[in-house]
Amino acid sequence: MKSTSTRLQGKVAIVTGAASGLGKASADLFLANGAKVVYADVKNIKVKSAKALFINCDVSSSASVNNLVAATVKKFGRLDIMFNNAGIATGGTAVNTTDEIWTKTLMVNLSGAFYGTRAAAKYMQREKINGSIINTASIAGLVGFQDSLAYCSSKGGIIQLTRAAALDLAKFGIRVNAIAPGVIDTNMTKPYLTDKNYANFFKLSTPLGRIGVPLDIANAALYLASAESGFVTGSVLTVDGGWVAK
Ligand SMILES: NC(=O)c1ccc[n+]([C@@H]2O[C@H](COP(=O)([O-])OP(=O)(O)OC[C@H]3O[C@@H](n4cnc5c(N)ncnc54)[C@H](O)[C@@H]3O)[C@@H](O)[C@H]2O)c1
Repeated sequence: MKSTSTRLQGKVAIVTGAASGLGKASADLFLANGAKVVYADVKNIKVKSAKALFINCDVSSSASVNNLVAATVKKFGRLDIMFNNAGIATGGTAVNTTDEIWTKTLMVNLSGAFYGTRAAAKYMQREKINGSIINTASIAGLVGFQDSLAYCSSKGGIIQLTRAAALDLAKFGIRVNAIAPGVIDTNMTKPYLTDKNYANFFKLSTPLGRIGVPLDIANAALYLASAESGFVTGSVLTVDGGWVAK
């Protein structure tokens, strides 16, 4: 169920990868809960609300991410919530993953989360803001998947980035958490989910017996962004229908 309330009233949030999927659902939900929201993506989109702004950003560039934080503060006056969600899915095994796939995957997924965490933390620490930083990991950061070597490596890295940053930032009242989604119906998974055999395999492998929807993740992000998770840091919240509990 999509909640519209004031849980994020007075807060300013950035969501990366907000043109699509989990990022868009989360940015929309943050907005519906009272936050001012910057939708950031490499792909341009139009945002309609006066409380929202689109900023083009390539998370694999630290300059682009630093600019994203600076432009957000310039427009909305502060930054409370940084959701480092942008990511790409790539294939490749321990034998055939090329240098290019490895570097691209690590740069977008892992360096992107690092640049976002660093830029937001620097700002929040300086301004004494008890902010919340959220990173999108994956169940592929908790267990191995075949033919996804670089992707699994990047998502495992995000989990450790989250824990280490949480320890560095706890004394400043800045919380850092990760969400580990299971299989969710988005543009990223469409190529698999339109194949009936794959879709059935994912459904049957999920204890709750369904594929996730973007709002499942947005609701988790809203919890981690809000004061209700005020005693939660360094955690990895799996939202996977029970996939890794097996
Ligand atoms: N869908 C799933 O089943 C699933 C499962 C686990 C984790 N995830 C993770 O969730 C996140 C969101 O994925 P999604 O399923 O919504 O996919 P999606 O493809 O629908 O959305 C990803 C968005 O990220 C943007 N993006 C890609 N590279 C970027 C870059 N360099 N800079 C800025 N933006 C960039 C894309 O333009 C796109 O709008 C990703 O980190 C993904 O790895 C997804």
